[in-house]
Amino acid sequence: MKALILAGGLGSRLRPFSHSMPKQLIPIANKPVLVHVVEALRDLGATEIGVVVGDRSGKIEGALGSGARFGVRLTYIPQEAPRGLAHAVAIARPFLGDDDFVMYLGDNMLTDGVQDIARDFVIRRPAAQIVVHKVAHPSEFGVAEVDAEGRVLRLVEKPREPCGDLAVIGVYFFTAAIHAAVDAIRPSARGELEITDAIQWLVERGEDVRARVYEGFWRDTGRVEDVLECNSELLKDLVPSVRGEVDADSELIGAVVVEPGARIVRSRLVGPVIVGAGSVIEDSGVGPCTTIGQDCEVRSSVIEHSLVLDGAQVVGVGSVRGSVIGRQATVTAGGVPGWHRLLVGDHASVEVAA
Ligand code: G1P
Repeated sequence: MKALILAGGLGSRLRPFSHSMPKQLIPIANKPVLVHVVEALRDLGATEIGVVVGDRSGKIEGALGSGARFGVRLTYIPQEAPRGLAHAVAIARPFLGDDDFVMYLGDNMLTDGVQDIARDFVIRRPAAQIVVHKVAHPSEFGVAEVDAEGRVLRLVEKPREPCGDLAVIGVYFFTAAIHAAVDAIRPSARGELEITDAIQWLVERGEDVRARVYEGFWRDTGRVEDVLECNSELLKDLVPSVRGEVDADSELIGAVVVEPGARIVRSRLVGPVIVGAGSVIEDSGVGPCTTIGQDCEVRSSVIEHSLVLDGAQVVGVGSVRGSVIGRQATVTAGGVPGWHRLLVGDHASVEVAA
């Protein structure tokens, strides 16, 4: 089975981070979302992987390379504009040929894996098999109506009045039957060729379309809150290891990873916590549920449930929580007591206690 990763989206809900990096490269547990996706596909046995990329293709290719590092072969497929998931399938046709394939949205994390679901597809080979998940707000997603045997009766993209609470999530299994469907549909009201419309086309023609419920942890990492929740979820399985320096005045509690070249000085780390290579934590409290990227500085600060990206500095700030600090960003104390001085970039968001 081949695989197709869609990584062309703009990531407007993940501003300001998506101004300077494709949203699919935001690190979760110190590894870009796309790397998690490639590894998940490799673990399904899909080693021939097409990656549909938009105008940020250079950064994505820079991060993933040929795929050899992950034991897969990547083929990059440029998409000139984000014209929909079904459009991505259409332009990937020369790569896909008539092979079965799994399509994975490059910002989706299904941390419990879809091994069983993939096995079902390989054994039964329905024309298409979608993965669904019970959600509280189905109208934000594609919604599936499914019978007791798992047959899909109807699929609607972001319905105002949803027929149930099963959202279509970012992993789809297809036979070559999908190509005729993709060729037949027209753009939706938002101007995109919707994959849900293509699958609905198959349903209407009496093709066998199945849904399997995924019960594990799932997030579309399109928003900062989802990124933080996903980070906490992945850190639950963190295996502690200390390859950097920890001085005698520091305390590590629970699962803490200190990467090579990192230094922990007079600090208390409460796992799960990852401190990336070359970072310095001094006179600080870090964790739980926090990842610090590479070459960061955290001094005289307390930070928990947060993500600090490479090269950022947090200095003299008493309590930081639920935050994402971008690459090379600085958060420092100073200036006039009682006043905040803020240099806030476009689309950034800052919350200060009243
Ligand atoms: C896309 C699909 C939608 C699906 C969602 C999952 O939506 O069109 O059916 O439920 O991904 O993340 P989009 O993120 O393009 O709005």
